[in-house]
Amino acid sequence: MTSKKYDLVIINGRVIDPELGFGKDGHIFIKDGKIVKIETDSASIRNELKNLDEHQKIDATDKLVVPGLIDIHVHLREPGREDEETVESGCKAAAAGGFTTVCCMPNTTPRIDNQETVKFVQDRAKDADARVFVVGAVTKGTAGEELSEIGDLVKMGAVAITDDGQYVQNAEVMRRALEYARMFDIPVMQHAEDQQLCAGAIMNESFESTRLGMKGAPAVAEEIAVLRDIALCRLTGGRVHFQHISTRLAVEAIRQAKQEGLNITAEATPHHLVLTDKEIGKEFNTNLRVNPPLRTEEDRLAVIEGLVDGTIDCITSDHAPHSEEEKDCEFDLAPPGMIGLETTLGLIKTFIIDKGYLSWADAIRKMTYNPARILNIPGGTLESGAIADITIIDPNKKWTVNAKKFRSRSRNSPFVGWKLSGQVYRTILGGRIVFER
Ligand code: DOR
Repeated sequence: MTSKKYDLVIINGRVIDPELGFGKDGHIFIKDGKIVKIETDSASIRNELKNLDEHQKIDATDKLVVPGLIDIHVHLREPGREDEETVESGCKAAAAGGFTTVCCMPNTTPRIDNQETVKFVQDRAKDADARVFVVGAVTKGTAGEELSEIGDLVKMGAVAITDDGQYVQNAEVMRRALEYARMFDIPVMQHAEDQQLCAGAIMNESFESTRLGMKGAPAVAEEIAVLRDIALCRLTGGRVHFQHISTRLAVEAIRQAKQEGLNITAEATPHHLVLTDKEIGKEFNTNLRVNPPLRTEEDRLAVIEGLVDGTIDCITSDHAPHSEEEKDCEFDLAPPGMIGLETTLGLIKTFIIDKGYLSWADAIRKMTYNPARILNIPGGTLESGAIADITIIDPNKKWTVNAKKFRSRSRNSPFVGWKLSGQVYRTILGGRIVFER
């Protein structure tokens, strides 16, 4: 604790708080890791600012000041694949991308399906540059058969359960998972792709897969998976969060289920909002291989429509690091997944905000307030007393994605070389600057 009145003041920024509906110029005063107050400019405030040392101030003129971004779908690869990512490196990538909170997926080696592994990840995250919340596995070993000890996982701090990477194919297992999750008021995060329909698939089933001679995953595999879980939600009163929605049919199913009043939320990733399966045949860039696969233009536009009308609640990166050796192979042999923490904000600004689909305020809501509420985790607000997790954005800064600058241990992004607009300027975690450009 210092005796000073404030530790840090972010001055002259355009403050956007989706919860407070605040969208005006102001100064944010921080002390002991918390937001003390937000003030608009006035003579008395200018006086107060005069008494501060220069190092206590961040000048955010022409910048946006928003709650720290929250990504509820991230693979940190620890334990087991520290060559691809660690909790530490993943959190550095998060900070560089403006994220102050990430939720890590349990498909590590071993899986995060017991208290010890939850605790292991939490310990690794203690001094990291982002807050980490752990999502536990629905089933032991994510094998889809026997439920994990869900109560134990929650007791240890897991904020949700998922077998991400795989659909919980057995309806009976999913039913029980929803019933348990409901008792603990957590959602089941579902990777909705029917496994049998997708067996052996390398890309989306479409004109493109036929042209390229690759086995495709049909859009209906996502629709069927989503529809079954909607039915199970109706039956159990449980809560499903659909991950990385990629098809028109799934968006329509979720829209209808929400109209019915079911407890359902959904996310979309920048890659499904920006890319289509047409990209694959150009160079067979293995970084375009991802599950669910990149779809058609019609699907892409439908996912954007869902984002705009609120069917899709939040944006996540599905940051999925893979090593260069693993991706340096034929397209059909490459493991699915691409990194995303450091490109999400720029992609959303360039392809969603600049194209007029969402305002800054709406986009920020889908990357802060909404994901925080889905998982019942702190953050997503700049109100007085809140933890000072804050992202400062240079909204029109042009930049080129450079693989050498990634903080992630992996480089598997198909966006390398892309020119984007909108860049993180500072990331502040609990009042501490964890990233500065
Ligand atoms: O493309 C993907 N990669 N999709 C997933 O669901 C899992 C992820 C991974 O873990 O690499």
